[in-house]
Amino acid sequence: MTHLIMANHSCFLLNGILLILMSTIQAIPPPNPVQCNSTGCILHNSYAVWGDRKDCYVSGVVYPATEEELRFAVANANKNKQKVKVVTKFSHTIPKLACPTGTASILADQNATLISTEKYSSDINMDAANMTVTADSGVPLRDLIDKVEAAGLSLVASPYWEGVTVAGLISTGAHGSSWWGAGGAVHDHVIGLSLIIPATASEGYAKVISLNHQDPLLNAAKVSLGMLGVISKVTFSLEPAFKRSITYNFTSDDHIEDQVFDHAKKHEFGDIQWYPSRHTVVYRYDDRVPLSTAGNGVNDFIGFQPNAILLSQSVRASEKSFENARNVNGKCTLASSFVAYKKLTANGLKNNLIFTGYPVVGRQGKMQTSGSCLNSSPARIDQACSWDPRIKGLFFYESTAIFPATKFIDFLRDVRKLRDLKPENFCGVDIYNGFLIRFIKASKAYLGQSEDSVVVDFNYYRADDPSTPRLNQDVWEEVEQMAFIKYGARPHWAKNRNVAFLDVQNKYPNFNRFVAAKEQLDPQNMFSSEWSDQILFGRQSNKADGCALEGQCICSQDRHCSPEKGYFCRSGLVYTEARVCRYSMSAVH
Ligand SMILES: Cc1cc2nc3c(=O)[nH]c(=O)nc-3n(C[C@H](O)[C@H](O)[C@H](O)COP(=O)(O)OP(=O)(O)OC[C@H]3O[C@@H](n4cnc5c(N)ncnc54)[C@H](O)[C@@H]3O)c2cc1C
Ligand SMILES: *[C@@H]1O[C@H](CO)[C@@H](O)[C@H](O)[C@H]1NC(C)=O
Ligand SMILES: *[C@@H]1O[C@H](CO)[C@@H](O)[C@H](O)[C@H]1NC(C)=O
Ligand SMILES: *[C@@H]1O[C@H](CO)[C@@H](O)[C@H](O)[C@H]1NC(C)=O
Ligand SMILES: *[C@@H]1O[C@H](CO)[C@@H](O)[C@H](O)[C@H]1NC(C)=O
Repeated sequence: MTHLIMANHSCFLLNGILLILMSTIQAIPPPNPVQCNSTGCILHNSYAVWGDRKDCYVSGVVYPATEEELRFAVANANKNKQKVKVVTKFSHTIPKLACPTGTASILADQNATLISTEKYSSDINMDAANMTVTADSGVPLRDLIDKVEAAGLSLVASPYWEGVTVAGLISTGAHGSSWWGAGGAVHDHVIGLSLIIPATASEGYAKVISLNHQDPLLNAAKVSLGMLGVISKVTFSLEPAFKRSITYNFTSDDHIEDQVFDHAKKHEFGDIQWYPSRHTVVYRYDDRVPLSTAGNGVNDFIGFQPNAILLSQSVRASEKSFENARNVNGKCTLASSFVAYKKLTANGLKNNLIFTGYPVVGRQGKMQTSGSCLNSSPARIDQACSWDPRIKGLFFYESTAIFPATKFIDFLRDVRKLRDLKPENFCGVDIYNGFLIRFIKASKAYLGQSEDSVVVDFNYYRADDPSTPRLNQDVWEEVEQMAFIKYGARPHWAKNRNVAFLDVQNKYPNFNRFVAAKEQLDPQNMFSSEWSDQILFGRQSNKADGCALEGQCICSQDRHCSPEKGYFCRSGLVYTEARVCRYSMSAVH
């Protein structure tokens, strides 16, 4: 049901931008990623828009509820020679990995089908004596954590966002932040899993195999992009329950270079947010403390809280109007009020129901991850996750580069040089989370990080229309190319624009081992598609007009940008080998 509400009230937007809005309001929670009608189905990610903006069509989707039904679904697809991919209830991966088709695909493509784990999500088997837990692959991370905590144990690593499933999150290498113990990547806490792979007719067309920690195939299967088979069970190692103590230090960004590694070594779960245009850095002092420490705090990260739909829409409206007016200072005003607001609210940390002061101490399960916009209670129809595609609120890119630790400081210095040329140019990312810097330890997973690494996320405005150039897009393209080309960073498998994946196969020392495992377990390439191959093998699509605007290519000619709108292919300002789309007024007039 759609509720049409005339919102005749003014919405005071933080620093006093008054906006009067009329709006169509729909209910939460997020929409189902698979939408079917009598002719077929369409698969979406959580933003409802893939990198290339082309829809993903399949003939159908099945919802197995047991491991045997899951095996049967794989057997059916194998018998019918269909391509198959797993889709989760959340589908929060941004690249088109879960799409079983390719460029030639048509509506209701009979050659491709989906298996959803939405209903295969109930079994969570605690083994408290061995400090492990084994869960159905479709179990949501929040359900897993709550069960683990109730048994007096804690899962040490998790992504910051809880709207993911246990198999979905390990499949793309999802991580939090830590250089301690097994480290910040969740898959490095996996000690076994079961995989359903295609088999011969006499074996019933599909079979379940169990991989334990001694099996070298586990190094392929921990981070597999869904390309080895269907994961049915995942076993994680746990530790005795603990609490965390968190303090944010908002300070000057003068000496980040000297602080980064020290920070990671001193604080088990530390991270760093850098707001370049504000000359501000935020150190997260985040340490494990004994369960007996006083405190019942919650980390309800502000970006993942239920957002008043009107607020999300008005931020989008402001961003759009600043874009259209080429008003960099307008963006800076927004950025400055958001950073001030985050400081005031401690990014959403709550000692009790509200934030009253540092440090905030709470149980690991309440501090490690959040996502209260997934289910506000009592359910409110005027709130949603700020990026919910139905509300036309925030719409942005997420670039995530993973650097070998040894290269990170030089990258940071280059970005600082670019910032110093014109700090206002960085206001666009500071409206989001600036540069979020996190830590991952070396991993044996073939598609994980082979050495201690530093991860940088930055989000920025995406236009409604693919042919609309964006304010300061040359700056983001230069940072993107510095990261992925100059400093050889690896792209997070679940984020990024297509250009980030160019040459990715040469960035992993064990890449060939992954491919060999894939050929062994899925010789017919049932679980591979043109779309997922494009990511895994870092293939560039044809360089069409305007392809650089949305990161489908790196420009080499003006037509890859938008000469008619004044954007031409130019060199980077600090990394001069970069080729970016830059606005030039003189060329227009
Ligand atoms: C708002 C937001 C915040 C985020 N925060 C973080 C963060 O802090 N850290 C981080 O690292 N990442 C983060 N991510 C990325 C997110 O963790 C990953 O995208 C994760 O993979 C999503 O999990 P999912 O359950 O939605 O899986 P999906 O996106 O549905 O699937 C991921 C891949 O795994 C495959 N797959 C899923 N289940 C199975 C299965 N049972 N068997 C075989 N293959 C399977 C799918 O086919 C697909 O290729 C964030 C994403 C969003 C949108
Ligand atoms: C089914 O959905 C597709 C894609 O949105 C659309 O093109 C088609 O017309 C729909 N068919 C019916 C019968 O509604
Ligand atoms: C489906 O597969 C058949 C046989 O391999 C092929 O001829 C056909 O073109 C495929 N259809 C699509 C839409 O890819
Ligand atoms: C779990 O612990 C028991 C003893 O408590 C042991 O017999 C068993 O082998 C362990 N299981 C695993 C999977 O390690
Ligand atoms: C915040 O960080 C700065 C720079 O590292 C440091 O000088 C200052 O003492 C810190 N403040 C607190 C309260 O920890």
